[in-house]
Amino acid sequence: MSGPRKLFVKSFGCQMNVYDSHRMADTLAPEGFVETDAPEGADLVILNTCHIREKAAEKMYSELGRMRKLKQEAAHEGRKVLIAVAGCVAQAEGQEIIRRAPAVDLVVGPQSYHRLPHLVARAAGERAAGERIVDTEFPVEDKFDFLASPSREKTRARGVSAFITVQEGCDKFCTFCVVPYTRGAQVSRPVDKIIAEASRLADAGVREVTLIGQNVNAYHGEGPDGRAWTLGRLLHRVADIDGLARIRYTTSHPCDVDDSLIAAHRDLAELMPYLHLPLQSGADRILAAMNRRHTRADYLRVVDRMRAARADLALSSDFIVGFPGETEQDFRATVDVVEDIGYAGAFSFKYSPRPGTPAATMRQVPEEMKAERLHRLQAAINRQRAAFNAACQGRTLDVLLDKPGKRAGQLVGRSPYLQPVQIMAPASRVGEIVAVRITEIGSNSLFGTLASAATPGAPAAAERSAMPVLAAQGA
Ligand code: 5AD
Ligand code: SF4
Repeated sequence: MSGPRKLFVKSFGCQMNVYDSHRMADTLAPEGFVETDAPEGADLVILNTCHIREKAAEKMYSELGRMRKLKQEAAHEGRKVLIAVAGCVAQAEGQEIIRRAPAVDLVVGPQSYHRLPHLVARAAGERAAGERIVDTEFPVEDKFDFLASPSREKTRARGVSAFITVQEGCDKFCTFCVVPYTRGAQVSRPVDKIIAEASRLADAGVREVTLIGQNVNAYHGEGPDGRAWTLGRLLHRVADIDGLARIRYTTSHPCDVDDSLIAAHRDLAELMPYLHLPLQSGADRILAAMNRRHTRADYLRVVDRMRAARADLALSSDFIVGFPGETEQDFRATVDVVEDIGYAGAFSFKYSPRPGTPAATMRQVPEEMKAERLHRLQAAINRQRAAFNAACQGRTLDVLLDKPGKRAGQLVGRSPYLQPVQIMAPASRVGEIVAVRITEIGSNSLFGTLASAATPGAPAAAERSAMPVLAAQGA
C-alpha cells in the first residue's frame, strides 16, 4: 500500500450518519487513509448523505458542485481525488447520482460500508482501470462484524460522549418516511457486541453513550441467554459498565415504549431524564393517515407513565406540518398538544414528499400554508424551550464537560437535559461531571459557575426532585 492518503468525510442528517462516518474512517484507516477536517488536499472525499427531507438531498447536490471544482483543481496539479457518495441518498438514488453528478466515482449504500476498502481500490483503478461503481445491495452478512473499531487515542479524540448503533432500519412504514426503503428492515445487533463496544469506549475514557437506531426502542437483539432482549433490559446491562456515567437513547416510537423501558427510567440513575419521543401530529385523523399506529391519547398515556417513573423527565419531539389533507383544525390540534405537554424542545418540519412513499401521491397542502403553519408551531415550541430553560435559572445541574468553549478558559458541557452549558474551567477538566449553578440563560446555551468540587460519575441525585416545574407543565 502507498503512503498515507487523506480522507475527508462530511456527514449530513442524523446521528446514525455521524456514527457511520466514524466507522467508514476506521475501516479505511488500515488502507492508509488518515482523516482530515477539510476537503482541500484530500485524496478521498466521502459525502455521507441524508434523504429524509427534500432540503437534505439538495444540500448534497450543491456540495457535489463544490467537490467537482476541487477535483478539477487537483487534476491540474496531477493529483487524483476520488469522490464517494454514501448514506441514504446513495441508497435511494444509486445510478441516478452517477448520471447527474459526473464527479462522483463511487456510490455506496449504508449496508455496504464494510466493503469500502475493496470498492475504493476498484474506483481508484489500483487493480484495473478505474471504474465508477454503485453498491447499494442489502448483503446477507452483518456489516457490523466487518467494520473496524478505532484506536483508544482516536476514540478519546472524538470526545467524551459517543454514539453506538444498536438497531438499524425500520418496519413501521409511516406514510411520509423513506427510512424503511433506504435503511431497510429492522435489524438489532446482539447484546454482547454492543456491550463489547460500550466497554471499549468506556476504557478509552468515554463517559456518555447514546444508543442509536431509527426505531431504537423496537430493539430486540439476541442476549447472551439466546433470547431477544428489549431496550430496557439492554439499558440495565449498559448501566453496569464501569466508567460510563451517562446513557441516552434515540429515536423512539411511542408504540414501542414497553414496561422494561419505563422501568429503566425509574431504576437507572445513569439514564438521563430526557426523552426524544416523536409525536408528528396532534390530530388523530392525520396520525392515522401517517400510519403512526397510535392516537394522541395513546401518546399522552405513554408520557404520563414515563413521568410517573421519573418526575424530572424532559421531553422533546418531532412534528410535521402540512401533511397531505391537514386542515387548520388538525394543525391547531398539534399546537394544542404541544401546549399541553410542555416540551423542553422539539424539531418541526414542513412535510416534504419523498418519492416512492405513499403520502407523496396524496393531495398536497400548498407551500405557503405549510410555511405559515411551521412558523406558528415553531413560535409555540420556542416559547416552551424558553420557559424550560428559564426554569433552570438559579438551579444546580450536573454538567458533563465535553469540550473547550468559544472563549479562552471556557468549557462547554451538557446538562442532563442536553442543554449546552458554558462555564469557566480549565481544559484539564474535560470528561468530568461537575455541579454547575446556572446564572444566566442565553438564546442557545446556559451559563453557570462551578458549584462544588467535581463529582465524577455521580448522578444528579439532588436534582431529581428539584425540577417540579418540568412535570407541572404536563397535561
Ligand atoms: N417530510 C417532513 N419531515 C419528515 N420527517 C421524516 N420524513 C419527513 C418528510 N417526508 C421528519 C419526522 C421524523 C424526523 C426525523 O424527520 O418528523 O421524525
Ligand atoms: Fe420513519 Fe420513524 Fe416512521 Fe420508521 S417509525 S417509518 S423511521 S418515521
